[in-house]
Amino acid sequence: MTLPDGPKGLAILQFSKWLRDPLGFVSQAHKQFGDTFTMRLPGIGPMVIVSDPQAVKQLFTQPEIASPGDEELKVLLGENSVLLLSGAAHKERRRLLMPPFNGSRMTIWGQAILDMTTEAAQNFMDGERINVRDVMQEITLNVMLQIVFGTHDSGRRQQLRRDVGDRMLLASKMSAVLPLWLPFLRPISKGWKESQRAEQACDRAFYAEINECRARNDPDEPTVLAMLCQATDETGRKLSDVEIRDELMTLMVAGHENTATALSWLVYWLGRDPRMLERVREELTSLGDAPDPMALAKLPYLDALCHETLRYYPPVMLTMRRIVKDPVEIGGHRLEPGTKIWGSVYLAHRRAEVYPDPDAFRPERFLERKFSQTEFIPFGGGHRRCIGMAFALFEMKLIIAGLLSACDLELLDDKPLLPKRRTGLLAPDIGFEVRVRAKSAPGPIPLAAE
Ligand code: HEM
Repeated sequence: MTLPDGPKGLAILQFSKWLRDPLGFVSQAHKQFGDTFTMRLPGIGPMVIVSDPQAVKQLFTQPEIASPGDEELKVLLGENSVLLLSGAAHKERRRLLMPPFNGSRMTIWGQAILDMTTEAAQNFMDGERINVRDVMQEITLNVMLQIVFGTHDSGRRQQLRRDVGDRMLLASKMSAVLPLWLPFLRPISKGWKESQRAEQACDRAFYAEINECRARNDPDEPTVLAMLCQATDETGRKLSDVEIRDELMTLMVAGHENTATALSWLVYWLGRDPRMLERVREELTSLGDAPDPMALAKLPYLDALCHETLRYYPPVMLTMRRIVKDPVEIGGHRLEPGTKIWGSVYLAHRRAEVYPDPDAFRPERFLERKFSQTEFIPFGGGHRRCIGMAFALFEMKLIIAGLLSACDLELLDDKPLLPKRRTGLLAPDIGFEVRVRAKSAPGPIPLAAE
């Protein structure tokens, strides 16, 4: 089988170059080999990378992702995760998981998200330096825990938050993640053993929650867990505990760190350009003192700003990989069944013919025109498109609005903040800090909700 040309050299060397500098690696390959090229990865083999809208369209119409051979995801999430299902089972699981994160069901969380943001900001002191990623992780994890498990039994909830937080922290550490791709490292890796222990703690907590939820058996409980416990498929079968556990893990992994990363970038862009900050503040002020979350979510400039943030450094830099089922022509190359393809979200978002002056951060571009579902792809696309897309945008807007109504966040210096790879995410440096400034009196920040 002939594949599109691509960088030469051993798979392990290509992989280590990509690990060190993923944007440099794909940009260089794109320059040298064009829109469609092949990259080689140890344990995964050749992978065709695409980014032009036509090829992205083909990518999104491929019926399957590269599973069930997708060992890393299986180990991380469990084999029953929606990410690993295919065909009718995948469709059915999406039907179950989508409603709480879309449409009117989603909007009932608006006020809770604003309150959780206010609660986090209440701990800030005027003049204090805060680690942006830590704050955003805390808020987005709290949001996800509340939606999935609800608010009852706060002692247990604290423990669950610690267990999930520890698991997520380890999922972002290379020493714990490398053995996912290179299984021979597992018996000797300290990071791997720690992540296994953290996973067992999460599992104990998840199964305890599942048991109690089944015992409550409350048809009006508005949590995702209750919905999963009560759901039946077309044949009337209920999900097993293990299936529910795997979806809980999936929602925890997929549902908060990406959003926290996008929010960290958003804080950076607002801190860098006072005109953008002023424009957002003007929009927020126009809604009065206690804005309706739905009205906040519809503010046009805030919306454009969130989109440009996701375009510029997409938190998830690669889509899930698809596998070619029937021979297909992509980017002028005939790809045979079994070929694995990846969409480079970063390259797709830096195409000058789609985004003029692509290296400029300019939210206005999203007010001037609409981009198609193969041009703007931070949430992937097709039948695998992120189920949390609408929710993540809603959450980003409310959290940033909540923080801006409580305080100002100033950058510590004017050095450009460069992206770092954190596992598969494109994130600001882990140590990114800002200084909190009270909007009026010093001391604990006076808050809108007080
Ligand atoms: C800014 C935040 C987020 C970004 C950038 C993001 C990005 C992505 C991307 C790129 C994919 C792969 C889609 C594809 O390959 O076509 C995906 C899938 C997924 N995301 Fe998100 N996501 C975000 C937030 C969320 C949230 C809040 C949830 C939870 C509700 C979530 C749950 C999922 C799930 C379950 C899948 C797998 C869908 C499937 O296999 O059918 N994501 N996301």
